[in-house]
Amino acid sequence: MWTSVLILSLVFWIFSNYYVASRIRMISVLSRLGKRKSWILAFTILVLIQALMTLTLNFVAAAVSFIHLCFSFTFFNIAEKFISKKIKGKSVHDILCLYAVLVTIVYLAYGWIQAHNIRETRYTVESEKIRKPVRILQISDTHLRTKYDTERYIKELEKMKKAGADLVVITGDYVDDESKRTSMEKCTKATAQLNPPLGIYFCYGNHDKGYYNNRDFTDKDLRECLEENGIKILEDDMIPLNDEIILAARKDKHISRERISSDKLMKKCNESKAVILLDHEPNDFENETQSGFDLILSGHTHGGQMIPLGILVKILGENDEIYGMHKIGKSTFIINSGFSSWSIPYKTGTFSEYVIVDFIPSGK
Ligand SMILES: [Fe+2]
Repeated sequence: MWTSVLILSLVFWIFSNYYVASRIRMISVLSRLGKRKSWILAFTILVLIQALMTLTLNFVAAAVSFIHLCFSFTFFNIAEKFISKKIKGKSVHDILCLYAVLVTIVYLAYGWIQAHNIRETRYTVESEKIRKPVRILQISDTHLRTKYDTERYIKELEKMKKAGADLVVITGDYVDDESKRTSMEKCTKATAQLNPPLGIYFCYGNHDKGYYNNRDFTDKDLRECLEENGIKILEDDMIPLNDEIILAARKDKHISRERISSDKLMKKCNESKAVILLDHEPNDFENETQSGFDLILSGHTHGGQMIPLGILVKILGENDEIYGMHKIGKSTFIINSGFSSWSIPYKTGTFSEYVIVDFIPSGK
């Protein structure tokens, strides 16, 4: 599905460039230069802006910004058809083009703030199977890429530490193809400092092993670094946390097609105990409910990242839900919108977060 989305986005980006250029070349200053020169100048302006954005951010960010600009220009182009050609002697087209750019900047600035300000989101989940409450810190989708990601993550760990979690879980996409070894090592050491009484556990996401084998560390290096720092990796496996709770984790659906079924994983656990499951991608709700998992923690969706991606992904059936807490039967699913925003530095459909879950005895 993601290949189709990428191809579609690329086609849309090319069209966006053509459309935005066609609007810009009609601005009074450019239109006076004649058809050929105005097209060349409009395209030159767009290429320069996107080149600058690619150098300072990345190509995906530049393309996403221009797709948004295209939508904004389309809206104001429709508006232009209902307004007279001149307002107080000024060209309506010039004024609306300026509005289109300003609206896009304000909207993407909002998305930037949503992506870069990390919130703490709290949930309370009751269970009949436990007598002692357990506080869980869930970190997901950090996609550690830049020096800035590293510094921000380490800084936020100080806040997370104050939550006083008994258990820390990392639910995948901790690193990706763009991550650097130094960043991965620094962040892993810092995470280990949380040192919660019930331990720190890691389950793989689709990006953790790397798709293109072009980063300066291997999956083996990641495993060794996590283990050296006392962070335990769970893959289609379980571990008793205490005499009341079992923690289980699945392999990622897309990178490990041979992963065992949720039923088989549950058979490894003791059903009379509360079983918490880590599954990076929230797309096996029915089976995980029927298997009897009590609390399922996921990430992957980035909460939809940008409008309308969340709705699109749900309609296409890629994920069962996109964000938040969902109760199905006796199972509670929590989907974390992630700490980072991957290549797109905007989150207009959601915000960045880490999650605290108070897993408490029923009726308390
Ligand atoms: Fe993912």
